[in-house]
Amino acid sequence: MAAALFPGKTSLIESLNRLRPRIMPIEDLIAAVPAGARVLDIGCGAGLFLGLLAAAGRTQDGVGFDTSKDAIALAQSMQTRLPTGHRIRFERLSVDDPWPEGTFDAVSLIDVMHHIPRKAQIGVLEMAVGKLRPGGRLIYKDMADRPFLMAAANRLHDLVIARDWIEYLPLETVRGTLAEMGFTVIEERSARRLWYMHEMLVMEAPA
Ligand SMILES: C[S@@+](CC[C@H](N)C(=O)[O-])C[C@H]1O[C@@H](n2cnc3c(N)ncnc32)[C@H](O)[C@@H]1O
Repeated sequence: MAAALFPGKTSLIESLNRLRPRIMPIEDLIAAVPAGARVLDIGCGAGLFLGLLAAAGRTQDGVGFDTSKDAIALAQSMQTRLPTGHRIRFERLSVDDPWPEGTFDAVSLIDVMHHIPRKAQIGVLEMAVGKLRPGGRLIYKDMADRPFLMAAANRLHDLVIARDWIEYLPLETVRGTLAEMGFTVIEERSARRLWYMHEMLVMEAPA
């Protein structure tokens, strides 16, 4: 499905999106989205998650935003390959800009938090869950901060690909912050793909 959404063979960003399902458990993230949910995907990159949700028939409604001009341009061209009648759109915005209006059934933060400066991370998390309707779901995934060698391998990956010295936010901090706000854990797991270690957390807002 990713290959059908990103068929171009010449751009690095398109190739990376085509290959991404091989290095991350995106199928688990897709399964965590309630069918028909309206989804806000924060730091959506080239729109892989919303694109796969739509292609898989999980939902046809969502907004993705990302600060990268190239990623949003690719997302908008990928959008033309989605099933007709979808209501998925992509906007170029930073988390520091005003966010898309409205509330959502699900909000996703996938491999974004480690790119946010440490001092801003909890604020972004709070803003993300502020976009959920009562009873809505936060779908959170990030690279694991341990074991050390895998965390270091991912740090190297981001240094080369994104030219970013990343800052891990421990998953316990995410879980604890949301638990204090009355959220409950629906699912929590880690998964290894090649030398990448992933952590996934799905939490439900109070009704
Ligand atoms: C590893 S990529 C993940 C993209 C996408 N979520 C996915 O899983 O395919 C991290 C993304 O976060 C975006 N990002 C980093 N800082 C951001 C910010 N301040 N506001 C919005 N997006 C940001 C980057 O542009 C990049 O596309």
